[in-house]
Parts: sequence; structure tokens; C-alpha cells
Amino acid sequence: MNNFRLGQFSQLLGICAVALGVSSCAPQTEEAEEFRLPISINEVMASLINHSADPIWVAAWRNPQTDEDWRELEHLARQLQLGGSLITIPGTGPVDTMWTGRESWHEYSMALADSAGRAVNAARSKDVELIARAGDEIVEICESCHRDFKPDLPTMNIYGELSPTAEDL
Ligand code: HEC
Repeated sequence: MNNFRLGQFSQLLGICAVALGVSSCAPQTEEAEEFRLPISINEVMASLINHSADPIWVAAWRNPQTDEDWRELEHLARQLQLGGSLITIPGTGPVDTMWTGRESWHEYSMALADSAGRAVNAARSKDVELIARAGDEIVEICESCHRDFKPDLPTMNIYGELSPTAEDL
């Protein structure tokens, strides 16, 4: 170990000793880099992203009526915002690491998080037109990323619920 690394190491130990106690604090930089979601990105898609995006589109056609409806929509838009950020981290899916390593993947994910953030603001100000606008942005991002990245066959045999259309309501 050269001096520089030794210096860093003892600095790290110093910080950890204060925060956590020395014994639990081996240098863990590499482990931190390998942090993974406990499920596949495909599962995040089906259970979080798809699930929280549908009600935003539905709200543009069948407008929320009560304060409670708007609040529910705000929570779901938050979940979608979080989902956008989460899919920049690979999970357990067979090609997750390949996807998250691409720059365009990162851009789509952050664009999704940004648009969902605008949906949060729209829900807070109970503005149907802004919800519709955020919804249009969101669908564009889902479709662009799917065009670029989605394999012809789902990798894990997970199917999301089909999104409702205006005719279903
Ligand atoms: C950053 C890229 C990206 C974005 C953004 C994205 N998806 Fe996906 N999505 C994928 C990929 C890749 C898969 C295929 C995963 C697999 O098969 O393992 C997928 C799979 C899905 C699935 C699983 C079922 C299926 O059809 O295979 C659903 C549902 C889904 N996406 C919905 C959405 C919705 C709704 C949005 C927008 C709100 C969205 N996705 C945004 C990349 C993305």
C-alpha cells in the first residue's frame, strides 16, 4: 500500500470510526459500486412505472373530482418520478447492467423522472391541462425508450396490465 492509499484508508477509518464503529467499517467502495435493486428492471416497469403512469393518463380523460383524488394522483406521480430515477440502477434482470450502462438509457430515465415531476406539480395545483401535457410527454418517453431498448420478447415473461385507452372509460 503506498502512502497515498494508506492516507486515504486511515482517513476513511477515521470517518467510519466516528459514524459506525471501526469493526463494521472495512473499506467498501467496490461493494457500493455494485449496489443493485433487489428485483429486475422489468419488474420495476410492471409494478411501479406502468402502475403509476396509467392513472396520470386516465386523469386527463376522466378528471379527478375530489381533493382525495388529486392527492392520490400526486402520490402516483411521485412514484413515477422515483421510478425514473430507480431504473438508472441495475437490478436482477439478465441484461439490466447492459441497459443501465448506456447513456441514452440514462437520458430516457431522467427525462421520465423530470416529466413525472411536472405531473406532481400539476396534481398539486389541480391543473387538468398540465396533467394532460405531462401525460403526453411521459408517453412519448416510454415509447421512445421501448423502441430503442425493449427486446422483441420480454426477458422474464412478465406482462404489465395493458394500459387503458380513452374508449375504456
Ligand atoms: C429507460 C427506458 C425505458 C423507459 C423510460 C420505459 N421503459 Fe418500459 N421497459 C423498458 C424495457 C427495456 C423493457 C423490457 C424489459 C424486459 O423485457 O426485461 C420494458 C418493459 C416494460 C413493461 C413490461 C411488460 C412488457 O411489455 O414487456 C411495461 C408494462 C412497461 N415497460 C411500461 C412502461 C411505461 C408505461 C413507461 C413510461 C411511463 C415505460 N415503460 C418507460 C424500458 C423503458
